Amino acid sequence: MPGFDSFFLMNTEDVKRYAVEVLHFFDPDEETACTEIGDGNINYVFRVCSERDGRSVIVKQADRLLRSSGRPLDMYRNKIEAAILKLEGELSPGLVPEVYHYDEVMAATSMEDVSDYKNLRKELAANRVWPHLSENISSFMANTLLPTTDLVLDAEEKKRRVKFFTNPELCKITEDLVLTEPYYDYKGRNILFPGNEDFVKRFLYEDEGLHAEVASLRLNFTNNAQALLHGDLHSGSVFISEQGIKVLDPEFAFYGPMGYDIGNVIGNLFFAWANKAFTAPDAAEAMTALETCIAEVWDKTREKLEAKYDACVTLPLYRVPAFRAQYLDGIMADAAGYAGTEIIRRTVGDSKVMEVSSVTDPAQRIPMERALVKLGIALIKNRKAYRKGQELTEAFRLILA
Ligand SMILES: Nc1ncnc2c1ncn2[C@@H]1O[C@H](COP(=O)(O)OP(=O)(O)OP(=O)(O)O)[C@@H](O)[C@H]1O
Ligand SMILES: [Mg+2]
Repeated sequence: MPGFDSFFLMNTEDVKRYAVEVLHFFDPDEETACTEIGDGNINYVFRVCSERDGRSVIVKQADRLLRSSGRPLDMYRNKIEAAILKLEGELSPGLVPEVYHYDEVMAATSMEDVSDYKNLRKELAANRVWPHLSENISSFMANTLLPTTDLVLDAEEKKRRVKFFTNPELCKITEDLVLTEPYYDYKGRNILFPGNEDFVKRFLYEDEGLHAEVASLRLNFTNNAQALLHGDLHSGSVFISEQGIKVLDPEFAFYGPMGYDIGNVIGNLFFAWANKAFTAPDAAEAMTALETCIAEVWDKTREKLEAKYDACVTLPLYRVPAFRAQYLDGIMADAAGYAGTEIIRRTVGDSKVMEVSSVTDPAQRIPMERALVKLGIALIKNRKAYRKGQELTEAFRLILA
């Protein structure tokens, strides 16, 4: 049997042994069951559970090769994930799984099992309404983002963190798939729904005004080391229950513009709404709840960032009201812009969301995609104009009308 002193990709029997010998989570004679529960494209996620008393632990292991395509991907992502989960747990207690152990050799992070929380994307698809969502996700973002900036951290500590969280291979995925290819398909990877090719060509590939705005968002993503981001904050990374939320999977973390996280949350909520608007017009209650939730996420995130700012920023120069307003306005403009780029890339790019790919009837899919692309463009182009969350939801209502 291999030891755990040099890397190999574990199977369920290995993980059971790992949980005893390395994690000391179970007694050596304790019967356990282990299943691989990962449903993502990248890593392997195991759940080990005691047959004796039901205690359980999650072991997430990165491989050198991507689980889906077999392409190599830097395993340092697992170190980043463990470190940011710990930081987020300190900054926003209870909103991420607790990290029990990080193992650099095995590229494995062992953490709290949050299986009693459910995947938010699937919950929203099932028309379930979660009134506490906007409160919790806005707290998570305000608590974890602003305190990692230069406005709050000691300058040397900030630079040390920028270095540690430099994540070039995963950022490159975002730079290509989110911020380039939907507008300039230089790798030929976009997947266009038959009937929408001309629409995409005209509205995404040939609009120079749009390209200028996306160029600006792209350069902001690569250059603005503003805050430590989750980096992949879509609704499949958020798990929810009556008790609250748990945010998982921050392996794309890096120092970037905080509007990227906020925009990802908002963009993905729009998918749940759009899917219902075109496939389930009877789900009026769920749609109204989503509309309210989007507006509240925007408004509450801004309010909580303001409160955090006043509580944590001490340098008098940064406390000047005109600077504070300009800084926060900039974050929210980024949030609208990156909500737009997220909506567009998940519609025309190769990694679509379930809310789009599950719609196979052209009579629904074609107009739904067009509405989403138009919304994305409006959010990008008008991003500096929005003041209240309701203005974003109104923009989609106008497109749907
Ligand atoms: N701490 C946890 N507790 C319970 N379930 C978990 C936990 N971590 C991950 N999971 C389950 O495993 C799934 C995959 O986890 P995760 O998204 O972290 O993996 P990934 O390989 O990085 O996925 P992706 O391709 O989306 O990046 C989650 O959707 C969730 O169902
Ligand atoms: Mg992941």
